[in-house]
Amino acid sequence: MSDYQPILTMHAGQPGSATRDYYLANGGYRAARRAVLDMNSDDIIQMVKYSNLQGRGGAGFPAGVKWSFVPRDDKRAKYLICNADEGEPGTFKDRMLINHNPHQLIEGMIIASRAIDCHLAFIYIRGEFAKEARLLEAAVEECRASNILGKKIFGGKYDLDILVYRGGGAYICGEEMALIESLEGKRGWPRIKPPFPAIEGYLRCPTIVNNVETLSNLPHIVNNGAEWFRGIGASPDSPGPKLYCLSGHVRKPGVYEAPMGTKLTTLIFTHAGGTTEGKKLKAAIPGGSSAPVLTADEIEDLKMDFPSLTAAGSMLGSGGIIVMDETTDMVQACYNLARFYAHESCGQCTPCREGTTWLTKVLRRFTQGRGRMEDIDLIGDITDNIGGLCDFSKGSFGKTICPFGEAVSWPIRAFMDKFRDEFEAYLPKEEAA
Ligand SMILES: Cc1cc2nc3c(=O)[nH]c(=O)nc-3n(C[C@H](O)[C@H](O)[C@H](O)COP(=O)(O)O)c2cc1C
Ligand code: SF4
Repeated sequence: MSDYQPILTMHAGQPGSATRDYYLANGGYRAARRAVLDMNSDDIIQMVKYSNLQGRGGAGFPAGVKWSFVPRDDKRAKYLICNADEGEPGTFKDRMLINHNPHQLIEGMIIASRAIDCHLAFIYIRGEFAKEARLLEAAVEECRASNILGKKIFGGKYDLDILVYRGGGAYICGEEMALIESLEGKRGWPRIKPPFPAIEGYLRCPTIVNNVETLSNLPHIVNNGAEWFRGIGASPDSPGPKLYCLSGHVRKPGVYEAPMGTKLTTLIFTHAGGTTEGKKLKAAIPGGSSAPVLTADEIEDLKMDFPSLTAAGSMLGSGGIIVMDETTDMVQACYNLARFYAHESCGQCTPCREGTTWLTKVLRRFTQGRGRMEDIDLIGDITDNIGGLCDFSKGSFGKTICPFGEAVSWPIRAFMDKFRDEFEAYLPKEEAA
């Protein structure tokens, strides 16, 4: 293993690491104090832009660039929302960050709020994370009691409060527009973009939504500088520390911090101890269930950063790596995925609502040995009609209100195209002939 020293998880597992006093004793809130007292909005945005911190929630959009879209001379209130919904199958890093270091996240939120001139920020946390929600509420309370949050924080002129909001536990509420609707007290239905939230988000005011891991990086950037951050990882095109979640057929599943651009084989075979019982690696989903699956051959030498994964025809997404060994039944795995998406579709768009259910029915037929040869093309047809053609080089051709359409169709298409022989093997004899 490399001699990389963890940054985001350096205090994980230490007794008391979730408390304000532990955090303060270890240099905590220095960066937020500096951002509030010695830096203005432009200074912070420029620093984060130059650092090239890319959003860790899935899309990898540069955080500083997103913040710069918030209109300056606009009288409306500005809001920051931390996305702690973490519903993507195979992803469990945000929960870990909250559990071990909630103050690192709060400090990041103070820096981001200051950058966009926000005075009330939210943490939208997945409903099932009851323990983590209580932990965050306690951490916010500790901050209010010591002038880290509230009026004129750190003795300056800037006011900021943070509210913790528990979501209902629907996967779609992780999508930023659905999340905003849900925070407004409505059903979590995505809105069509544009307008993007930076222009019209929460209560139709400029709003920035950032992931827990994205925000947790900010104290380190302010403390150590953008140049330092750009130097971490395989390339300044996609730099920084990264939390990778390893699950599935690995000996030591868990969250591993490593530099962005670490090889996928290193993560599987070194960090996570290799496949269970040393079986042959068959495939891996590299970035949560919405990322197209990669075969063992495609994984060779693959760097886990945003551009490398896009070039490989998949995506880094949330960094949730699901490992599948040679015993995996790819038809069953694909059916499992389809069932999840059919269950989680919000139902607003016809291609997504009807298409996901249809896919599930066709795939169920396969798993029961009742598939038909023409079903293979039918699956391709349905996925194309939900999420458009899976061609990353040409961008998104989605036909739905939100990217859920691509999130379901691209991975199912990848299973179908890459493991077609397994689907054919499920056909009844007379069909296969
Ligand atoms: C269906 C769907 C689910 C999503 N779920 C999450 C989630 O659980 N957590 C998250 O941070 N982003 C999620 N996203 C991405 C968010 O819409 C948004 O891009 C992200 O929170 C922005 O933060 P970032 O720029 O820091 O990555 C989801 C997107 C889609 C389409
Ligand atoms: S694509 Fe699916 S999840 Fe997204 S808005 Fe349409 S129906 Fe809802």
